[in-house]
Amino acid sequence: MRLQKYLAHAGVASRRAAERLIADGKVTVDGQVVQDPARDVSESDDVRFEGRPVRPVLQPVHLLLYKPVGTVTTVHDPEGRMCVLDLVDTQGRRLYPVGRLDFDTSGLLLLTDDGDFAHRMTHPSSEVVKTYEARVQGIPGTEAIRALREGILLDDTPTAPAGVTLLRADRDTALLEFRIHEGRNRQVRRMLEAVGHPALALCRTGYGPLRLGSLYPGQSRPLTDDEVESLMESGRTAGFP
Ligand code: URA
Repeated sequence: MRLQKYLAHAGVASRRAAERLIADGKVTVDGQVVQDPARDVSESDDVRFEGRPVRPVLQPVHLLLYKPVGTVTTVHDPEGRMCVLDLVDTQGRRLYPVGRLDFDTSGLLLLTDDGDFAHRMTHPSSEVVKTYEARVQGIPGTEAIRALREGILLDDTPTAPAGVTLLRADRDTALLEFRIHEGRNRQVRRMLEAVGHPALALCRTGYGPLRLGSLYPGQSRPLTDDEVESLMESGRTAGFP
């Protein structure tokens, strides 16, 4: 990053004022006065303004991971099982998962070091819609689908209305799509058990406007600025059929 921008990002001065401070010889990089505002600096350089260190403000990291089955949604597992953080390049940052997926669930999981973002995504008032595909035992009839849509009593509280669609029926299993904005413990699996069609496999295919796309299990990619912004905005978007 250019020195002038580095100082502005760190809140020392506006870009224009920073240019002046640099020209006036008030800024050093690794002990040398630098008067060129376009000089490239990185996080490892010792940048000082009037002798005081200027710490860079790091851009937060947001990653989209395709969590494979058989991984734990934690930073570290005392039992030594593979954790989602073992699958990504953390870039030396302290990333953590946004919400969780079960050990035996695969799919879209966000990892970040952005506290505001994580809080916004997981707050109970956030209605970011999560999309799941479940391969289930048997073929749910209209009555079971209606019950799943309208609400299932879990721990004495009914689940909120959900979007549930039968995507395909095979010989003795079926593929269902769920669109829910709650994040209760093992919610989809428990809902399916309650209607007598336990999940054989469960994958989160979407999170708000995000989709797994062409990623393979275990792969990850950074979110774009636009994706972060649209997630922050997807508050009350749950328009269920
Ligand atoms: N619902 C579940 O049952 N499990 C998950 O991992 C996510 C949603």
